[in-house]
Amino acid sequence: MDNITQWAQELYDTCRVGHYSYGDQREIYENFLIDFLKDIPKDILIYDIGCGSGYCAQLYIKRGFQKEKIYCVDFSPQNIAFLKQQGFHASVGDILDLNEIADGSADVVICNGVLHHNSDPLKGFW
Ligand SMILES: C[S@@+](CC[C@H](N)C(=O)[O-])C[C@H]1O[C@@H](n2cnc3c(N)ncnc32)[C@H](O)[C@@H]1O
Repeated sequence: MDNITQWAQELYDTCRVGHYSYGDQREIYENFLIDFLKDIPKDILIYDIGCGSGYCAQLYIKRGFQKEKIYCVDFSPQNIAFLKQQGFHASVGDILDLNEIADGSADVVICNGVLHHNSDPLKGFW
């Protein structure tokens, strides 16, 4: 992990869990996400990469998606411990090095507010 990514990891791991409110901006992101999700079958397998404290994961459940088919990944161990306590599949992982997720294992991958924190955002797409 390079210095910039490591710095972001340390920052997010020391943030209070649930911190990512985005203030008034959250509604804009949320409407975009809700619109994206509305025509997708509810039994699909979702990966949420850079899941934070699970704001979006809770939103998927509210929109009818199945908790047991939501996989949360974040490089903050604190976030992942928090999500595991709530019964989510959750694992620590770096979006720039996600070898543990097999090709074709997700129906949908969602990544909200994450790539810009990294030294090589484009690499996060591969
Ligand atoms: C602004 S928060 C957004 C959290 C969540 N996606 C949401 O919408 O509430 C950014 C999150 O991305 C995570 N993150 C940043 N870079 C990451 C990386 N390289 N790999 C995994 N997670 C990363 C941080 O730990 C943090 O939880």
